[in-house]
Amino acid sequence: MVRGFSVLDFQKAKNSSQKITMLTAYDKITARIAEDSGVDAILVGDSLGMSVLGYDDTLSVTMEDMVRHSRAVSSSTKRAMIISDLPFMSYQISPEDALRNAGRLVVEGGCNAVKLEGGAEFSPQIKKILQAGIPVMGHLGFTPQSVNKFGGNFSQGKTAESALEIMENAYKLEDLGVFAIVLECVPHELAEAITQNLKIPTIGIGSGAECDGQVQVIYDVLGMNDGFSAKHFSRYIEGQKILTDALKTHIEDVKELKFPTAAHSFAVSTEIVNLVKRESRK
Ligand code: KIV
Repeated sequence: MVRGFSVLDFQKAKNSSQKITMLTAYDKITARIAEDSGVDAILVGDSLGMSVLGYDDTLSVTMEDMVRHSRAVSSSTKRAMIISDLPFMSYQISPEDALRNAGRLVVEGGCNAVKLEGGAEFSPQIKKILQAGIPVMGHLGFTPQSVNKFGGNFSQGKTAESALEIMENAYKLEDLGVFAIVLECVPHELAEAITQNLKIPTIGIGSGAECDGQVQVIYDVLGMNDGFSAKHFSRYIEGQKILTDALKTHIEDVKELKFPTAAHSFAVSTEIVNLVKRESRK
């Protein structure tokens, strides 16, 4: 289904200097909250692994996980463009794998575009997916599927070599035809230079205000991830505390016989009540 916000709107937004907004969502509830907030695009990110599935990183997220959660998000929303992550090992091995799995995310998951991490090394994969008419979003800088390679360093592009590598990969991705590039934890000066030099939009996370748009993990901005804090996000509410307090009140109400009330219960006629009483064991 073509959405109210599409790949064309990504480009229009950059051309008219309008910031693009993107949030992750993983299920019906988070997708509706995100869409109702007016966000332009929803990313069914493989951050699903940490945000929902309780994993330490994104590496164990499977195609099955991504298809199931993409379907939940796409079927619960209408306007926001849906982008789904190709998970670890779903595209790295061959262009054929990449296309097959990107196709599954579109056909079974209902997404409008796919995102994959990496640069020029995945040119054959990106070309193959694009040839089939599936829009691709790039992802450079800190790419969580390479967490073992980075060995705990989040911020990328801090040396001349690494900054130039990110920049060259951004040009390469644009030449290949990706519609936008996520820049994750890249120094803001580098992100700004890349943004100014590219025709396509950049979407930053921890990469400064000069990117053409911003993406955030929904549970981070909603404060649903107690115990996790990082430089790249702001909490707008203490969601986890608010929900926990609400449930504490519910539990107290049950224990103190304040819930349920008659209004929460079903009733039958006096005739049935009398019948049940007659039939009850003495
Ligand atoms: O999986 C994800 O949530 C992402 C964003 C952090 C860009 O890739």
